[in-house]
Amino acid sequence: MSPQDIPTDTPAAVIVLAAGAGTRMKSRTPKILHTIGGISMVGHALAAAKGLNPERLAVVVRHERDLVAAHITALDEAAHIVDQDEIPGTGRAVQQALEALDAAAPVAGTVVVTYGDVPLLTAELLAELTATHQADGNAVTVLTAVLDDAAGYGRILRHEDGTVLGIREHKDATDEEREIREINSGIYAFDAAVLREALKAVTTDNNQGEMYLTDVLFLARNDGGRVAAVSTTDRWQVEGANDRVQLAALGAEHNRRIVEGWMRAGVSIIDPATTWIDSTVQLAEDVTILPGTQLHGKTTVARDAVVGPDSTLTDVQIAEGAEVTRTHGSGAIIGEGAHVGPFTYLRPGTVLGADGKIGAFYETKNVTIGRGSKLSHLGYAGDAEIGEDTNIGCGNITANFDGVNKHRTVIGSGVRTGSNTVFVAPVTVGDGAFTGAGAIVRKDVPAGALTLTVAPQRNAEGWTAAHRPGSISAQAAENAGN
Ligand code: UD1
Ligand code: CA
Repeated sequence: MSPQDIPTDTPAAVIVLAAGAGTRMKSRTPKILHTIGGISMVGHALAAAKGLNPERLAVVVRHERDLVAAHITALDEAAHIVDQDEIPGTGRAVQQALEALDAAAPVAGTVVVTYGDVPLLTAELLAELTATHQADGNAVTVLTAVLDDAAGYGRILRHEDGTVLGIREHKDATDEEREIREINSGIYAFDAAVLREALKAVTTDNNQGEMYLTDVLFLARNDGGRVAAVSTTDRWQVEGANDRVQLAALGAEHNRRIVEGWMRAGVSIIDPATTWIDSTVQLAEDVTILPGTQLHGKTTVARDAVVGPDSTLTDVQIAEGAEVTRTHGSGAIIGEGAHVGPFTYLRPGTVLGADGKIGAFYETKNVTIGRGSKLSHLGYAGDAEIGEDTNIGCGNITANFDGVNKHRTVIGSGVRTGSNTVFVAPVTVGDGAFTGAGAIVRKDVPAGALTLTVAPQRNAEGWTAAHRPGSISAQAAENAGN
């Protein structure tokens, strides 16, 4: 990025608060590691923070410290992990983050504070907050929203002329203050020097015995600083997930936004309500997604492809014009114009060539299938390589596992295999070979050969009449003249 591209409102630091216990989740997994749209809540928080292009990023941790710290470092190895001590409260969390950053290099300019459990917050809204803060020369700018039910939140206290006076926590508020519906989102832009000074004066002298970050607003104002608010009408962006009911509601709204975004980008989504798409998925114009489809991870779908109904795909690449119907798949690559499904299980390493087919009730794993080859019905193909324009008959199986090791099956191009052929790997079938129905291929088949492993058929005439007298079968045989 060249210097003129760096936005002038790049903050000196973003501090993400993530030390809380999240007990209402009732989970062994720390709250902020619960996911929405395939990304942890703290992952969403880091993405929004990084969208501001801050000079430094700090995350305050305490509850399940090691798990959370490892997760954050995996997402961003440059993030400063700051441990909060036993003094509780958002004020203490920010104070310790600032101290840790200052120890490395003094922070000057704008410090943005966000939470690890507010997953729908966007970089755009944070940028708007930061830009207003800097343009107006504020000491503190708080992000607020007006809610129908403000219970539990800190309330924004304003002077008659609209000036922001400060924030009152719900538990410390009078009945009259509890009538206020403008709430503190907990997301702010601070001037670093003001924040540092004010935090020195913050005490735990309140209803909850915590160091309130919200006290900084009163203190900054008393010191003559400008305190202001940016109010958003998009309440989802300031909403936190404290329990699994809220997590699901936020997840549904997140998905609604993603699905709407793809529709506006030219994707046909027949039933948005039953279509779930992770933030990490990429779709092209004129893709069609049928109802009941979930696309996860690094799944990509190219132009004119049709996916669904009722398919769950994780890290699957689908090329132009392919159709994937009622399929459960992961780690697979589907070629141009290829067909998969219905009722197909694609496991990692499946690569289907252009115009190929993996049909109904097939399971595939670690198999490369060449252009135009078809595995149409009922079978298993694992640890195999299949050439081009080969037709694998109904019910074929690669017996790839001898109980100890996995072995490869290599099948050439232009091959035709009979129904219920079993390939006992390791085995190689040459180009243009045929196998008869029920063949058990234990030895390599030369190109152009026909393999038959058929036991002679014997018909015991009159067997039904002799051994099943009086049965429906015997009657049917008799009707047929036997
Ligand atoms: C806080 C605000 C309140 C605001 C609300 C918005 C204060 C004093 N109050 O209240 O005005 O309306 O958020 O949701 O700031 N955290 C730490 N260390 C701590 C305590 C909290 O890192 O010691 C983190 C939590 O992990 C969480 C965030 O800070 O991400 C908010 O904590 P929480 O306890 O939910 O704050 P509230 O009391 O709800
Ligand atoms: Ca909260």
